[in-house]
Amino acid sequence: MDRNVLITGATGGIGRAFACAFAKQGDNLILTGRKEEQLKRIANKICEKYRVHVQYIPLDLSQKNAEEQLWMWCEKRKIKVDILVNNAGYGYVGAFLKEQLEEIDCMSKVNMIAMGKLCWLFGNDMKGRKKGAVINVASTGAYHPGPYTALYYATKAFVLSLSEALEVELKPYGIQVLTICPGAVKTGFSKRAGRRENVFAMSPKRVAMDAVEALEHGKNRMISGMFYKIFIHIPRKIGRYLVCWQQKNMAFHIDK
Ligand SMILES: NC(=O)c1ccc[n+]([C@@H]2O[C@H](COP(=O)([O-])OP(=O)(O)OC[C@H]3O[C@@H](n4cnc5c(N)ncnc54)[C@H](OP(=O)(O)O)[C@@H]3O)[C@@H](O)[C@H]2O)c1
Repeated sequence: MDRNVLITGATGGIGRAFACAFAKQGDNLILTGRKEEQLKRIANKICEKYRVHVQYIPLDLSQKNAEEQLWMWCEKRKIKVDILVNNAGYGYVGAFLKEQLEEIDCMSKVNMIAMGKLCWLFGNDMKGRKKGAVINVASTGAYHPGPYTALYYATKAFVLSLSEALEVELKPYGIQVLTICPGAVKTGFSKRAGRRENVFAMSPKRVAMDAVEALEHGKNRMISGMFYKIFIHIPRKIGRYLVCWQQKNMAFHIDK
């Protein structure tokens, strides 16, 4: 296919699974994350197994202008990014007021600002070429508030909101925006967040494979797993039904 796929947060979990899923299809990869050794190991393994071209750049997205550095790095090597996967992110479990103040900066930068700036930088290139795709990794937590994981859920609501808007804005330029909203996934995420693994946790491979399939089918939204589809859709449907019912009753006299 000869496409170049740039994946952030590719040193493990869902990002690494994305790398394998795209490589399996014959796509070339650009991987990034902070851990250089891990990136090198993953790049070598994928190269050997799938015979695709894999490059990597270690980068801390919490640092100022890391996004520009990543864009410049691709530009210097004349790499045209066909698919951008904004996957890097992390969360925490704990009281908001007990969080370190620097952590609020750091999480906001990695989960929101970096994602938004990378959409802008690579989105403009794609606009020029009149084709491309962006996958943004949100969460089922994007759909509701999360006390004791407040900032993380809020950052994911930002990802979902920006992505849904870009889905409309970028479509005329031939750019597809797919937002994926996984529930719990078995990765290093829970350990870093300081919480127990959820019994419903899915495999990262399943999530990445479903996302790649959703992309190929031209979809814009993907919630992973039946349990989470029900968990998100039913409350929304009931809420909409109740609001409509209440509105109708309030306006009962109008038609009379
Ligand atoms: N696992 C879940 O239950 C779950 C559920 C819903 C959504 N998600 C979302 O899925 C995405 C991937 O998470 P995961 O579950 O695969 O967790 P993970 O295994 O912890 O992977 C997170 C990735 O993000 C990268 N990352 C974190 N901080 C970074 C920074 N400052 N700069 C650059 N890269 C950074 C990590 O790379 P380095 O450590 O090498 O920097 C790692 O590759 C995240 O956006 C997460 O919010 C996860």
